[in-house]
Amino acid sequence: MNTITIIQPDDWHLHLRDKQALATTVPAATRGFGRGIIMPNLNPPITNVRLANDYRKRILAQRPDGSDWQPLMVLYLTDNTSPDEIHAASESGFIYGCKYYPAGATTNSDSGVTDLNKMHAVFEAMQSVGMVLQMHGEVTSNEIDIFDREAVFIERHLKSLVAEYPSLKIVLEHITTQQGADFVIDAGDNVGASITPQHLIYNRNHMLAGGIRPHLFCLPILKRDIHQQALINAATSGSHKVFLGTDSAPHTQGTKESACGCAGCFSHHAAIELYAEVFDKAGALDKLEAFASTNGPDFYGLPYNQSTIELQKQQWKLPESLPFENTQLIPLGAGTTLNWKLAE
Ligand code: DOR
Ligand code: ZN
Repeated sequence: MNTITIIQPDDWHLHLRDKQALATTVPAATRGFGRGIIMPNLNPPITNVRLANDYRKRILAQRPDGSDWQPLMVLYLTDNTSPDEIHAASESGFIYGCKYYPAGATTNSDSGVTDLNKMHAVFEAMQSVGMVLQMHGEVTSNEIDIFDREAVFIERHLKSLVAEYPSLKIVLEHITTQQGADFVIDAGDNVGASITPQHLIYNRNHMLAGGIRPHLFCLPILKRDIHQQALINAATSGSHKVFLGTDSAPHTQGTKESACGCAGCFSHHAAIELYAEVFDKAGALDKLEAFASTNGPDFYGLPYNQSTIELQKQQWKLPESLPFENTQLIPLGAGTTLNWKLAE
Protein backbone atom coordinates (compact mmCIF):
# COMPACT_ATOMS: atom_id res chain seq x y z
CA MET A 1 0.00 0.00 0.00
CA ASN A 2 1.68 3.20 -1.16
CA THR A 3 -1.09 5.73 -0.73
CA ILE A 4 -3.98 6.14 1.67
CA THR A 5 -6.93 8.44 1.13
CA ILE A 6 -9.00 9.52 4.10
CA ILE A 7 -11.74 12.05 4.77
CA GLN A 8 -10.04 15.33 5.61
CA PRO A 9 -9.12 15.24 9.31
CA ASP A 10 -9.71 17.84 12.03
CA ASP A 11 -7.56 18.80 14.99
CA TRP A 12 -9.68 18.80 18.14
CA HIS A 13 -7.13 20.59 20.36
CA LEU A 14 -4.50 23.13 19.37
CA HIS A 15 -2.81 26.36 20.44
CA LEU A 16 -2.25 29.21 17.99
CA ARG A 17 -1.19 31.98 20.43
CA ASP A 18 -1.79 35.53 19.18
CA LYS A 19 -0.42 38.55 17.28
CA GLN A 20 2.77 37.85 15.36
CA ALA A 21 2.66 34.12 16.21
CA LEU A 22 -0.52 33.71 14.14
CA ALA A 23 1.41 34.33 10.92
CA THR A 24 3.23 31.03 11.56
CA THR A 25 0.72 29.00 13.51
CA VAL A 26 -2.43 29.54 11.43
CA PRO A 27 -1.03 28.44 8.04
CA ALA A 28 0.62 25.46 9.80
CA ALA A 29 -2.66 24.47 11.46
CA THR A 30 -4.48 24.45 8.11
CA ARG A 31 -2.01 21.94 6.65
CA GLY A 32 -4.16 18.89 5.87
CA PHE A 33 -6.89 19.78 8.35
CA GLY A 34 -10.45 21.00 7.84
CA ARG A 35 -11.09 22.46 11.30
CA GLY A 36 -9.28 23.12 14.54
CA ILE A 37 -10.47 23.54 18.12
CA ILE A 38 -8.64 26.67 19.28
CA MET A 39 -7.46 26.66 22.88
CA PRO A 40 -8.25 29.92 24.72
CA ASN A 41 -5.22 30.12 27.06
CA LEU A 42 -4.01 33.50 25.86
CA ASN A 43 -2.81 36.16 28.24
CA PRO A 44 -5.39 37.49 29.08
CA PRO A 45 -7.51 34.42 28.34
CA ILE A 46 -10.55 34.20 26.04
CA THR A 47 -13.24 34.28 28.70
CA ASN A 48 -16.24 35.63 26.81
CA VAL A 49 -17.99 35.62 23.45
CA ARG A 50 -16.72 39.08 22.48
CA LEU A 51 -13.08 38.12 23.05
CA ALA A 52 -13.62 34.86 21.15
CA ASN A 53 -15.15 36.72 18.21
CA ASP A 54 -12.23 39.17 18.06
CA TYR A 55 -9.67 36.35 18.35
CA ARG A 56 -11.45 34.38 15.62
CA LYS A 57 -11.18 37.37 13.28
CA ARG A 58 -7.45 37.72 13.98
CA ILE A 59 -7.03 34.02 13.20
CA LEU A 60 -9.04 34.17 9.97
CA ALA A 61 -6.97 37.17 8.82
CA GLN A 62 -3.95 34.82 8.71
CA ARG A 63 -5.68 31.94 6.92
CA PRO A 64 -3.96 31.25 3.59
CA ASP A 65 -5.82 32.36 0.46
CA GLY A 66 -8.09 29.66 -0.88
CA SER A 67 -8.19 27.71 2.39
CA ASP A 68 -11.57 26.99 3.92
CA TRP A 69 -10.13 25.69 7.21
CA GLN A 70 -12.32 26.76 10.13
CA PRO A 71 -11.25 27.78 13.63
CA LEU A 72 -13.72 26.40 16.19
CA MET A 73 -13.55 28.72 19.18
CA VAL A 74 -13.51 27.81 22.86
CA LEU A 75 -14.20 29.81 26.03
CA TYR A 76 -11.82 29.66 28.99
CA LEU A 77 -13.70 28.89 32.20
CA THR A 78 -12.86 30.89 35.31
CA ASP A 79 -14.37 31.10 38.77
CA ASN A 80 -16.41 34.02 37.41
CA THR A 81 -17.90 32.44 34.28
CA SER A 82 -21.67 32.87 34.34
CA PRO A 83 -24.39 30.58 32.96
CA ASP A 84 -25.48 33.55 30.81
CA GLU A 85 -22.10 33.49 29.08
CA ILE A 86 -22.62 29.78 28.30
CA HIS A 87 -25.99 30.56 26.72
CA ALA A 88 -24.45 33.41 24.73
CA ALA A 89 -21.64 31.08 23.60
CA SER A 90 -24.11 28.45 22.52
CA GLU A 91 -26.06 31.00 20.49
CA SER A 92 -22.92 32.56 18.94
CA GLY A 93 -22.61 29.93 16.20
CA PHE A 94 -18.80 29.88 16.43
CA ILE A 95 -18.07 28.57 19.95
CA TYR A 96 -17.83 24.80 20.26
CA GLY A 97 -16.65 24.19 23.80
CA CYS A 98 -15.50 25.55 27.14
CA LYS A 99 -12.10 24.70 28.53
CA TYR A 100 -11.50 23.79 32.13
CA TYR A 101 -7.96 24.48 33.31
CA PRO A 102 -7.31 23.79 36.95
CA ALA A 103 -5.75 27.06 38.15
CA GLY A 104 -1.98 26.80 37.88
CA ALA A 105 -1.87 23.51 35.95
CA THR A 106 -0.05 24.70 32.83
CA THR A 107 0.78 27.58 30.45
CA ASN A 108 -1.51 30.60 31.09
CA SER A 109 -3.78 28.73 33.46
CA ASP A 110 -3.53 31.16 36.38
CA SER A 111 -7.07 32.42 35.77
CA GLY A 112 -8.41 28.86 35.64
CA VAL A 113 -10.94 27.29 37.96
CA THR A 114 -9.93 27.01 41.63
CA ASP A 115 -12.73 24.67 42.73
CA LEU A 116 -14.78 22.40 40.46
CA ASN A 117 -17.53 22.35 43.07
CA LYS A 118 -18.22 26.03 42.42
CA MET A 119 -18.99 25.39 38.74
CA HIS A 120 -22.39 23.79 39.27
CA ALA A 121 -24.51 26.44 37.53
CA VAL A 122 -22.07 26.63 34.60
CA PHE A 123 -21.94 22.86 34.09
CA GLU A 124 -25.74 22.69 34.35
CA ALA A 125 -26.01 25.33 31.64
CA MET A 126 -23.47 23.52 29.46
CA GLN A 127 -25.30 20.25 29.89
CA SER A 128 -28.63 21.84 28.98
CA VAL A 129 -27.36 23.46 25.76
CA GLY A 130 -25.09 20.55 24.74
CA MET A 131 -21.87 22.58 25.04
CA VAL A 132 -18.70 20.42 25.21
CA LEU A 133 -16.53 20.65 28.33
CA GLN A 134 -12.87 20.23 27.44
CA MET A 135 -10.91 19.22 30.51
CA HIS A 136 -7.27 19.55 31.32
CA GLY A 137 -7.48 16.52 33.58
CA GLU A 138 -4.78 16.98 36.18
CA VAL A 139 -4.80 17.85 39.85
CA THR A 140 -2.39 20.60 40.81
CA SER A 141 -1.70 19.86 44.48
CA ASN A 142 1.97 19.99 45.30
CA GLU A 143 1.82 16.76 47.24
CA ILE A 144 0.70 14.79 44.19
CA ASP A 145 3.57 13.51 42.07
CA ILE A 146 3.53 15.03 38.59
CA PHE A 147 3.35 11.55 37.00
CA ASP A 148 0.20 10.73 39.02
CA ARG A 149 -1.75 13.92 38.45
CA GLU A 150 -4.00 12.61 35.68
CA ALA A 151 -4.88 9.35 37.42
CA VAL A 152 -5.61 11.21 40.68
CA PHE A 153 -7.78 13.74 38.81
CA ILE A 154 -9.89 10.90 37.41
CA GLU A 155 -10.40 9.37 40.86
CA ARG A 156 -10.90 12.60 42.79
CA HIS A 157 -12.89 14.69 40.33
CA LEU A 158 -13.83 13.16 37.00
CA LYS A 159 -15.72 10.11 38.24
CA SER A 160 -18.05 12.21 40.42
CA LEU A 161 -18.41 14.88 37.73
CA VAL A 162 -19.53 12.35 35.14
CA ALA A 163 -21.98 10.89 37.64
CA GLU A 164 -23.37 14.30 38.57
CA TYR A 165 -23.86 15.47 34.95
CA PRO A 166 -24.83 12.30 33.11
CA SER A 167 -25.41 13.96 29.74
CA LEU A 168 -22.71 16.67 29.85
CA LYS A 169 -20.36 16.16 26.89
CA ILE A 170 -16.84 15.91 28.31
CA VAL A 171 -13.55 15.54 26.47
CA LEU A 172 -10.68 14.42 28.65
CA GLU A 173 -8.03 16.28 26.69
CA HIS A 174 -4.62 14.86 25.76
CA ILE A 175 -4.90 11.65 27.76
CA THR A 176 -1.56 10.24 28.86
CA THR A 177 -2.30 7.17 30.97
CA GLN A 178 -3.80 3.70 30.92
CA GLN A 179 -6.25 5.01 33.55
CA GLY A 180 -7.31 7.84 31.22
CA ALA A 181 -7.82 5.50 28.28
CA ASP A 182 -9.71 2.92 30.35
CA PHE A 183 -11.93 5.53 31.96
CA VAL A 184 -12.95 7.10 28.68
CA ILE A 185 -13.51 3.85 26.82
CA ASP A 186 -15.68 2.47 29.63
CA ALA A 187 -17.69 5.70 30.05
CA GLY A 188 -20.88 6.59 28.19
CA ASP A 189 -20.90 8.15 24.73
CA ASN A 190 -20.96 11.65 26.25
CA VAL A 191 -17.32 11.16 27.32
CA GLY A 192 -14.44 11.17 24.83
CA ALA A 193 -10.71 11.87 24.73
CA SER A 194 -8.17 13.48 22.47
CA ILE A 195 -4.67 12.02 22.06
CA THR A 196 -1.53 13.89 20.96
CA PRO A 197 1.20 12.58 18.66
CA GLN A 198 3.87 13.02 21.33
CA HIS A 199 2.07 10.76 23.81
CA LEU A 200 1.76 8.07 21.11
CA ILE A 201 5.36 8.29 19.87
CA TYR A 202 7.29 8.87 23.08
CA ASN A 203 7.43 7.87 26.74
CA ARG A 204 9.31 9.46 29.62
CA ASN A 205 12.50 7.56 28.84
CA HIS A 206 12.72 9.42 25.54
CA MET A 207 12.56 12.67 27.51
CA LEU A 208 14.81 11.82 30.46
CA ALA A 209 17.10 8.82 29.85
CA GLY A 210 20.62 9.68 28.74
CA GLY A 211 20.03 13.43 29.00
CA ILE A 212 17.08 15.78 29.41
CA ARG A 213 15.23 16.65 26.19
CA PRO A 214 13.19 19.76 26.91
CA HIS A 215 11.42 19.72 23.55
CA LEU A 216 9.53 16.61 24.71
CA PHE A 217 8.33 18.34 27.88
CA CYS A 218 4.60 18.93 27.75
CA LEU A 219 1.70 18.72 30.19
CA PRO A 220 0.37 16.31 31.12
CA ILE A 221 3.92 14.97 31.17
CA LEU A 222 4.97 11.90 29.17
CA LYS A 223 4.46 8.74 31.23
CA ARG A 224 6.11 5.31 31.25
CA ASP A 225 6.01 2.95 28.28
CA ILE A 226 3.02 0.91 29.50
CA HIS A 227 0.92 4.06 29.33
CA GLN A 228 2.24 4.93 25.87
CA GLN A 229 1.22 1.43 24.74
CA ALA A 230 -2.24 1.83 26.30
CA LEU A 231 -2.73 5.05 24.31
CA ILE A 232 -1.57 3.39 21.09
CA ASN A 233 -4.01 0.56 21.73
CA ALA A 234 -6.87 3.01 22.38
CA ALA A 235 -6.14 5.15 19.32
CA THR A 236 -5.71 2.23 16.94
CA SER A 237 -8.53 0.11 18.39
CA GLY A 238 -11.19 1.69 16.22
CA SER A 239 -13.02 2.92 19.36
CA HIS A 240 -15.21 5.91 18.57
CA LYS A 241 -14.35 7.45 21.97
CA VAL A 242 -10.91 8.77 21.01
CA PHE A 243 -9.87 11.30 18.40
CA LEU A 244 -7.04 13.40 17.09
CA GLY A 245 -5.99 16.45 19.11
CA THR A 246 -2.40 17.49 18.54
CA ASP A 247 -2.11 19.95 21.45
CA SER A 248 0.38 21.62 19.11
CA ALA A 249 1.71 24.37 21.39
CA PRO A 250 4.54 26.54 20.13
CA HIS A 251 7.22 27.93 22.42
CA THR A 252 10.46 29.48 21.24
CA GLN A 253 13.63 27.40 21.46
CA GLY A 254 14.91 29.78 24.14
CA THR A 255 11.91 29.44 26.44
CA LYS A 256 12.11 25.64 26.27
CA GLU A 257 15.90 25.30 26.60
CA SER A 258 15.90 27.13 29.89
CA ALA A 259 16.45 26.55 33.62
CA CYS A 260 12.65 26.52 33.94
CA GLY A 261 11.45 25.52 30.51
CA CYS A 262 7.90 25.85 29.12
CA ALA A 263 5.61 22.89 28.51
CA GLY A 264 4.42 22.22 24.97
CA CYS A 265 5.33 20.53 21.70
CA PHE A 266 4.75 22.06 18.26
CA SER A 267 3.56 19.44 15.76
CA HIS A 268 1.70 21.18 12.94
CA HIS A 269 4.69 20.88 10.58
CA ALA A 270 3.84 17.17 10.21
CA ALA A 271 0.82 16.40 12.36
CA ILE A 272 -1.14 13.93 10.26
CA GLU A 273 2.05 12.18 9.18
CA LEU A 274 3.23 11.72 12.79
CA TYR A 275 -0.05 9.98 13.56
CA ALA A 276 0.10 7.93 10.34
CA GLU A 277 3.51 6.66 11.41
CA VAL A 278 2.06 5.39 14.71
CA PHE A 279 -0.90 3.70 13.03
CA ASP A 280 1.36 2.11 10.39
CA LYS A 281 3.72 0.73 13.04
CA ALA A 282 0.72 -0.74 14.88
CA GLY A 283 -0.55 -2.34 11.64
CA ALA A 284 -3.70 -0.23 11.92
CA LEU A 285 -3.63 2.27 9.04
CA ASP A 286 -7.22 1.22 8.33
CA LYS A 287 -8.21 2.80 11.67
CA LEU A 288 -6.58 6.18 11.01
CA GLU A 289 -9.62 7.69 9.30
CA ALA A 290 -11.93 7.02 12.26
CA PHE A 291 -9.45 8.51 14.73
CA ALA A 292 -8.52 11.51 12.60
CA SER A 293 -11.65 12.32 10.62
CA THR A 294 -14.92 10.84 11.88
CA ASN A 295 -14.83 10.17 15.66
CA GLY A 296 -14.30 13.84 16.47
CA PRO A 297 -17.15 15.22 14.32
CA ASP A 298 -19.43 12.46 15.62
CA PHE A 299 -18.63 13.46 19.21
CA TYR A 300 -19.08 17.19 18.56
CA GLY A 301 -22.20 16.61 16.46
CA LEU A 302 -20.68 18.15 13.33
CA PRO A 303 -20.64 16.92 9.73
CA TYR A 304 -17.57 15.25 8.29
CA ASN A 305 -15.37 17.34 6.02
CA GLN A 306 -16.36 17.12 2.36
CA SER A 307 -12.91 16.67 0.90
CA THR A 308 -10.27 13.98 1.30
CA ILE A 309 -6.51 14.00 1.80
CA GLU A 310 -3.95 11.59 0.43
CA LEU A 311 -0.92 10.30 2.29
CA GLN A 312 1.90 8.86 0.23
CA LYS A 313 4.53 6.38 1.34
CA GLN A 314 7.60 8.52 0.93
CA GLN A 315 10.56 9.19 3.21
CA TRP A 316 11.16 12.78 4.24
CA LYS A 317 13.18 14.49 6.91
CA LEU A 318 11.53 16.81 9.40
CA PRO A 319 13.08 20.27 9.76
CA GLU A 320 15.57 20.83 12.61
CA SER A 321 13.92 24.17 13.43
CA LEU A 322 11.26 26.58 12.16
CA PRO A 323 11.11 30.39 12.22
CA PHE A 324 8.84 31.66 15.01
CA GLU A 325 8.33 35.12 16.55
CA ASN A 326 11.60 36.65 15.25
CA THR A 327 13.48 33.61 16.53
CA GLN A 328 12.81 29.89 16.14
CA LEU A 329 11.14 26.84 17.61
CA ILE A 330 12.18 23.19 17.59
CA PRO A 331 9.30 21.10 16.19
CA LEU A 332 8.31 17.64 17.39
CA GLY A 333 10.56 14.97 15.89
CA ALA A 334 13.02 17.58 14.58
CA GLY A 335 15.54 16.02 12.19
CA THR A 336 13.92 12.56 12.17
CA THR A 337 12.72 10.75 9.06
CA LEU A 338 9.06 9.89 8.47
CA ASN A 339 7.71 7.34 6.00
CA TRP A 340 4.38 8.99 5.14
CA LYS A 341 3.86 12.38 3.59
CA LEU A 342 0.78 14.45 2.92
CA ALA A 343 0.28 14.97 -0.84
CA GLU A 344 0.10 18.78 -1.17
O1 DOR B 1 2.20 21.15 27.20
C1 DOR B 1 1.27 21.94 27.23
N1 DOR B 1 1.35 23.14 26.59
N2 DOR B 1 0.17 21.63 27.90
C2 DOR B 1 -0.81 22.50 28.09
O2 DOR B 1 -1.76 22.14 28.75
C3 DOR B 1 -0.72 23.87 27.57
C4 DOR B 1 0.20 23.97 26.44
C5 DOR B 1 0.60 25.39 26.07
O3 DOR B 1 -0.28 26.24 26.00
O4 DOR B 1 1.79 25.64 25.87
ZN1 ZN C 1 -3.39 22.16 25.13
